[in-house]
Amino acid sequence: MSTETGPKSLQKSLPSPYYYSPEIYQREKESIFCQEWFCAGREEDLPASGSLLVLDVVGESILVARTKEGELRAHYNVCRHRGSRLCAEDEKWNVKLRGGLTTAATIRCPYHQWTYALDGSLLSAPFLTDAETFQKKEFSLYPVGLETWGGFFFLNLSPGQAAFADHTLFSQLGPAPERLKRYPLRDLRTAKTISYDVAANWKIVMENYNECYHCGPIHPELCDLVPDFKRAGGSNLDWERGIPHRPGAYTFTTTGTTSRSPLPGLDADEKVRHTGELLYPNLLLSLSCDHVAAFLLWPQGPDRTRMECRFLFHPHEIAKPCFDPSDAVDFWDLVNRQDWTVCERVQLGLKSRVHQFGYYAPMEDLAADIRRYVDKRLGPSQS
Ligand SMILES: [Fe+2]
Repeated sequence: MSTETGPKSLQKSLPSPYYYSPEIYQREKESIFCQEWFCAGREEDLPASGSLLVLDVVGESILVARTKEGELRAHYNVCRHRGSRLCAEDEKWNVKLRGGLTTAATIRCPYHQWTYALDGSLLSAPFLTDAETFQKKEFSLYPVGLETWGGFFFLNLSPGQAAFADHTLFSQLGPAPERLKRYPLRDLRTAKTISYDVAANWKIVMENYNECYHCGPIHPELCDLVPDFKRAGGSNLDWERGIPHRPGAYTFTTTGTTSRSPLPGLDADEKVRHTGELLYPNLLLSLSCDHVAAFLLWPQGPDRTRMECRFLFHPHEIAKPCFDPSDAVDFWDLVNRQDWTVCERVQLGLKSRVHQFGYYAPMEDLAADIRRYVDKRLGPSQS
């Protein structure tokens, strides 16, 4: 940050078109979401061999499967023969094609019945035999990289380039795994998921998550629970040690307390303080002593983002007959809806012809990260 005072010391945001231009969004798709490791779900979403998910990752249809060996693998949902989509609903013409996931846990193209194993290898193509002109091993599904951390799986839509650049998930995650090493993320399970369709660019959501200057005006209930969030405009928050709650409170619930036990392995601070991580490009984690709220951003276009909010708890708690996550879920749902409301206001306002760019106040310094993050991948924005 500049040491000057006055308006000139405020850092400019990205130019406003970065938040609504289809051209910028397309560049972000190619240079960010198709290059970085994109968090797309939890390992628990594919519980058994033969499990298959069809996911839309920034407009690319992706298959994620658990193979018969139990490994997770991902591929583009595209037949290597003529490019037909392999797995899809056929609702428009009221026709049912014979394709997709078979009872034998293979993936069959409905068009000419080329059939693939869940690891992506081509098993058979009718009336074509393995010969000099046709080597089955050269017709595996287009691969998608898949790596896991903390029970989450991440996809890389350009796995060849990632391997060439030695761009692994762990190089992308940086210090976060070490910082969160006592949270048993891999053991946790999703007890509740809420999906929100937010009419705002993904960067507005990220920037909002990354600063607490807005907490006082937007989140009165949250600031009642965590008074530090509104003190000095949310500046000087000690995210390294965690943020303390009001006296007597220790978790993000309506009452600030819970009947659930703390997650096993946490240290003394983690049992009473709140912490969070923003993992570019699309995973936000908010960690309390007894649960974790995980937000997966699914960009839907330049001005829409689907927010998948998962509430993770320890299986020991979920198994209890009295388990009820609503104390955490209801509190988060309130805070979330407050955030989405103001994010949509920003999306509306910055399209005004007079608003060429915005500013970051000094206490929003972390939010400026997204400008540096985007500039590094798209080139200088010259705001
Ligand atoms: Fe907020």
